[in-house]
Formats: sequence, structure tokens, C-alpha cells
Amino acid sequence: TMLSAPALAQAPYPTRPITMIIPFAAGGPTDTVGRLIAQTMGNELGQPVVVENVGGAGGTLGAQRVAQARPDGYTILLHHIGMATIPTLYRRVPYDPINGFETIGLVTDVPMTLVARRNFPANNLQELVQVIQRDREKLNYANAGIGAASHLCGLLFMHAINAPMTTVPYRGTGPAMNDLVAGTVDLMCDQTTSTTEQIRGNTIRAFAVTTPNRVASLPELPTAAEAGLPGFDVSVWHGLYAPRTTPRPIVDRLNRALVFALRDETIARRFGELGTAPVAIERATPEAHRAFWQADIAKWRPLIQAAGQFAD
Ligand code: MLT
Repeated sequence: TMLSAPALAQAPYPTRPITMIIPFAAGGPTDTVGRLIAQTMGNELGQPVVVENVGGAGGTLGAQRVAQARPDGYTILLHHIGMATIPTLYRRVPYDPINGFETIGLVTDVPMTLVARRNFPANNLQELVQVIQRDREKLNYANAGIGAASHLCGLLFMHAINAPMTTVPYRGTGPAMNDLVAGTVDLMCDQTTSTTEQIRGNTIRAFAVTTPNRVASLPELPTAAEAGLPGFDVSVWHGLYAPRTTPRPIVDRLNRALVFALRDETIARRFGELGTAPVAIERATPEAHRAFWQADIAKWRPLIQAAGQFAD
């Protein structure tokens, strides 16, 4: 007898490992979030979720890989706020940056921190701004390419203080952090998932967090507004995606695994140690994720255009 449509929809999935593409280098903040949830998602799915780093071009190479993958649930993408800035920052990318994906759910919102090499000659944000305005031609700002969160933060910061700097692009802020710790680049704005342990270990210098509230894992660090730079607000939301036309039952299956990971106490504790938290479960749905993403594209477009001359 022929299988009915519902029976086909319930064909077993997954029956083999799933690849989670991280569009930045290993050892960086997106990688940290991905590796934290991948194993637990895999436990729930009964198949391993294997992280693969496809860094470069500000996260667009990894996104392209997933947009062009078979929509069968075996290739998924963890991406961040860049999904909302790339449609404005790039005239064109080799995939559809808005309609090329199914949303699975939001994962976490990560504050950023303005940081410098350890021996940078400034003790607070106001001194930092003075040094940059005086010496900006001698200073380098590290980022993970146009479309990275570190790019967006740097763009807004340079615009706010009216001081463009030479930027040094990396495949992710993981490798950029190595150079910041080594002192071969001067400045960066990076997510607390990467900077918390460096700041606490005193291997880099921190000036401010980019969110309206202080971060529990770094209670001494002032907000940008407290330190003298009001109106500066960047939080790096992350979400999971599948290629467009991935069947809804597969998206829902992946969503169940995501929600399972977000409810895991060990994961929540680790997120907390790194200055973040799992999103509230009502935001971890395909619909909430898509609505948030679309609104964020509209939110950032005018801000990026206003700062455009600093876009690099
Ligand atoms: C990374 O994982 O390297 C970062 O998320 C890069 C960035 O967006 O700044």
C-alpha cells in the first residue's frame, strides 16, 4: 500500500550526523555558543551534531554554505546579528540573505565589551577616546570582517567618537583575540563569551560593556553610558537556521532539540559564567526568531547607513 502523506512526514529523522556550520573561526564566541548547545542537541536527537567552522568574509561564507545545502535537516547554521546587518552592509552576497533560510529558533543574546591590549595607555573609556582621537592613525582595530558583530560595534564606536581607525579583519575574533593578547593589535569590541575569561585573567584591558545594563559576570565593568558614551547599545543575538524549504516537521524536530538544550542547567550555568543566558523559551520558536530577525534588519539599516562612512 502507498504511504499516506502524514506517514511520509514522519519518516525517521535524523538517521545520520547533522552538521552545524559556524560562520567564524574555531575558538571564538560563535563557536563557543555552537559547541555548548551542539552536544546536548545531539543527545536529544539521537545523532551527533558536528560543528564545522566555515569562517571568512564576515560570516557570509558559512551562511552561503548553508543556504546552498540540501534542505534535508543535515546541514544547519548558527549565526548571529550579522544576519540582520549583512543585507544592508553588502550590495550583494551569493545567496538570498533574507529569504534563503528557515528559522529554527533564537539561542542567546550576548553583550559585547570594548577591549584593548593589556598595556594600552588608557585607564578608562574617556582616556581611551582621547588616545584614539589623538593617535588614531597609529592604532589598529581588530574585527572579524564586514558583517561581524565586532565590525558593527567598531563601526558604531568610531562613528560615535568621530575617529576612524585602520581595521584588521580576521576569520573570527578567536584568532583576533590571540593577537590582542599578544599585543600585535590594539583594540577590539568582542562578545563576553570570548572576553570574560581574558578580562578576569588580566590578559587584556576592558573599558565598557555595550549593553544598557552591566553584566553579572563582570560586575566591575561600567556600561558605555556610565563611562561617558550614551546611546551605545549592541547585543549579539544568535539563532539557528536551516536551508529554505527544509520541511516543517524537520524544522520542528530541530527546534525541540534546541529547546531541550536551552533548558539544560549545565548549559545555562556556563552561559551565565560567560556573561549571557539562554533566551526565554517563547523566543526560541521559528516564528519568534523570524519576526525578531526581520525587525532587526529594519532597526540596523538606518544606523548603519548613518555610520556608513566608517564602514571600511
Ligand atoms: C566569532 O565567532 O568570531 C565572532 O562572532 C565574530 C564577530 O562577529 O565579531
